[in-house]
Amino acid sequence: MRILFLGDTVGRTGREAAAAALPMLRAALKIDLAIVNAENASHGFGVAPEMARTLFDAGADVITLGNHAWDRREIIPTIAETPRLIRPLNFPPGTPGAGSVLVALPDGRSALVLNVMGRLFMDPLDCPFRGTAEALARYRLGVTVAAIVIDFHAEATSEKMAFAHSFDGAVSLVVGTHTHCPSADHQVLPGGTAFLSDAGMCGDYDSVIGMQKDPAAQRFWRKMPGERLAPAEGESTVCGVFVETDPATGLARRIEPVRMGGRLSPAMPTV
Ligand SMILES: [Fe+2]
Ligand SMILES: [Fe+2]
Repeated sequence: MRILFLGDTVGRTGREAAAAALPMLRAALKIDLAIVNAENASHGFGVAPEMARTLFDAGADVITLGNHAWDRREIIPTIAETPRLIRPLNFPPGTPGAGSVLVALPDGRSALVLNVMGRLFMDPLDCPFRGTAEALARYRLGVTVAAIVIDFHAEATSEKMAFAHSFDGAVSLVVGTHTHCPSADHQVLPGGTAFLSDAGMCGDYDSVIGMQKDPAAQRFWRKMPGERLAPAEGESTVCGVFVETDPATGLARRIEPVRMGGRLSPAMPTV
C-alpha cells in the first residue's frame, strides 16, 4: 500500500497548496491512502467545516487534528458526525468525535488511522501510550488491517521517538506533527514501522512556524501580548511523507520525504 501523509496545513495558502497538491501527488505516487493534518487550516487556529470538505474533495481520505482541534467551534458537530475527521484519541472520555477510523479502501483492503497527542510541553491529556495500546488491541496489522498509521501530535522529539519504538512492529507508520518543521530522521525502525519525528507543515516557511514573522518575533522581544498573530501568506511548501508497505505484513518497505514548492528544497520519491 502506498501512503501519503501531509503535515499541519496552515492558513489559506497552506490549505490551497495542500488541496492543489493532493490530486497531483495521489496520481504521481499512485497513492492508496492519503491523510492530511488540518489543525491550523483556519488562519492558523482550527479548521472550519468547509475547509475540511475542500480537503476531502481534493483527495484526503482522513483528516487529523491536534491541540487546535476545537479552535473553530463550528467544527465540533462536524467532528462528531464525520468519522474520517479525527481528533486526538486521548482527550477525556465523552469528548465529541473519535481518535481513530477504519477506512475501507476501494480495492477492498482496510486501513486504520489514529490521531494521538503527546503530553510533554502540551496539554495534560490521558496517557497517549496506554490509549494507543488500547485502541490497537482490537486489530492485527497484516491480518485484520492492511495498514495502520498514527499521527502523533507532539512537541518533544524524545516523546515521539519513545512512542514510535513502543509500537515498532505493530503499525505501518508513526509520523509526528505539531512542530511545523520537517525533520530528516525518516527511517524504517528495526521492527518494520516507518517513522519520521515531524512531517513539517503545508505553509509559508518565510515565517515563524507559519505565522507572520515580525509579530511572532515581537512576542519574544517584548514579554507582553502583542499584535494578534496571522498566517504568513507567501508561497507554501507542501511537506509530508510517503510510505510504501509490504502487502503481506503491512510493515513499511520504505519511507521518503515529500516537499514541494515554496522555500524548502524539493523532495519527491520515485515510484
Ligand atoms: Fe500545528
Ligand atoms: Fe499543534
